[in-house]
Amino acid sequence: MICVVGLGKVGLPLIAAIANAKYSVLGIDTDDKLVSKLNLIKKIPLEKNKSLIIKNSKQVKFVNCYSYCKNISTFFLIVPTPSKSDNSFSNKFILKALKKILIFSQKKKLFIILNSTVSPGSINKVILPFIKRNNKKKSIVEFIYNPFFIALGNVLDGIINPKSLLFGYNKKIISKKIIKIYDNLLIKNKPIFILNYEETEIAKIISNYRDTMKVSLANLIGLICNNTKNSNSDKILSFLSTRLSLQESYAGTPYGGPCWPRDNNALERSMKNKDLDLFSFMPRSIHNFNNLYSKYLIKETLKIIKNKKKITLLGLGYKSGTDETVESFAFRLYKLLKRKRKKVQAFNLSSNQIRCNKFITNLSFFNDFKKNIFTSNDVIIFTQKQNLLDFKTVKKLLNKNVAIVDYWRIYSIKHKNYYTFGNNYN
Ligand SMILES: NC(=O)c1ccc[n+]([C@@H]2O[C@H](COP(=O)([O-])OP(=O)(O)OC[C@H]3O[C@@H](n4cnc5c(N)ncnc54)[C@H](O)[C@@H]3O)[C@@H](O)[C@H]2O)c1
Repeated sequence: MICVVGLGKVGLPLIAAIANAKYSVLGIDTDDKLVSKLNLIKKIPLEKNKSLIIKNSKQVKFVNCYSYCKNISTFFLIVPTPSKSDNSFSNKFILKALKKILIFSQKKKLFIILNSTVSPGSINKVILPFIKRNNKKKSIVEFIYNPFFIALGNVLDGIINPKSLLFGYNKKIISKKIIKIYDNLLIKNKPIFILNYEETEIAKIISNYRDTMKVSLANLIGLICNNTKNSNSDKILSFLSTRLSLQESYAGTPYGGPCWPRDNNALERSMKNKDLDLFSFMPRSIHNFNNLYSKYLIKETLKIIKNKKKITLLGLGYKSGTDETVESFAFRLYKLLKRKRKKVQAFNLSSNQIRCNKFITNLSFFNDFKKNIFTSNDVIIFTQKQNLLDFKTVKKLLNKNVAIVDYWRIYSIKHKNYYTFGNNYN
């Protein structure tokens, strides 16, 4: 049996992947309500309203207490690592979970695989010394850092079909037992990289930093095109994709979510030592650009919708495929419009209802919007890159004087009521 500690946005899909690979799995979470709910519904909720039905309750178990892990030797840890006030990641949930594992597991040899994101230096400076201090039974502990390179909206696929596997380890070879688990989880063999702990910690946050740079570059091009007559960012990015590996890059809304902004800030924080401080402006400048760009888009949007009363936002999530609102541009816009006393309604586009943000559960779903689309809108704002309405409906709305603000230029329409950014064709 394999144990997954932390049944969150990443932990649940990980359990689904392990169960699919025919292993028995024990899921531990300290959130009693979540555990009861999971046991009640007897399925593993996944993204995009999908779920995996648990056919055999002995194969997948959810518990709120570590005493059930007595006979387990393999643990995946995917607990939160919230950002501290100095932007480094807190290890407190990891340490709490490790302490319990070391107390309750009776196995002589433990394999502990950490999937949560940690700040550079955490493993050697904090986590390994903690394990040493709390390993009262003197178990042999093989500690492996295997950060996930996944994106919300696509977590399960990111786990079972990654581009490559990265292990942070203090030996050159990972035990056959662990490699076999990954072989069974993954849909096909992937290149494996075994780096040391520090290298792996750096690689994880640099990978997300690079993604924030890529999005910001596309948005910078959009910004320039928005202010340059006869220029279209999509055409420029389509050419640049052949030279700068900018495939699938489009100018749109600023980046957000639970990972990129804080990983970027954590990188800056990790450079705050006397020799590197001088260079920490690199991640900070991306962060600052993203904030300024967000303000710019809001200012331009407010100009467009100034005299409009009823505003509809399609999607509040920070990107398509998820309703997560952490650092979401759409959510920021929603709160601002509310403060300005505008009549504004927002629609969920892809909800995983069991873990969805409390605030959002009060909102309606996209199908409700479709029902009354012609009756109650002055402005419709596409906050995510999603082809939600057919071309005919969009045309009809525009002709009825409904303004459409589309940050992603989804439709090729020229109309006085269709407003886009990043495209300044006359
Ligand atoms: N969400 C992402 O897209 C993403 C991507 C890559 C990496 N990560 C990293 O993965 C980690 C987890 O992220 P998440 O989004 O799944 O978090 P989450 O907040 O959705 O879920 C974490 C779960 O862990 C539980 N938990 C907390 N302390 C516990 C303990 N001591 N024992 C058992 N359970 C405990 C919580 O109750 C919660 O259900 C973080 O380090 C995050 O940075 C997240």
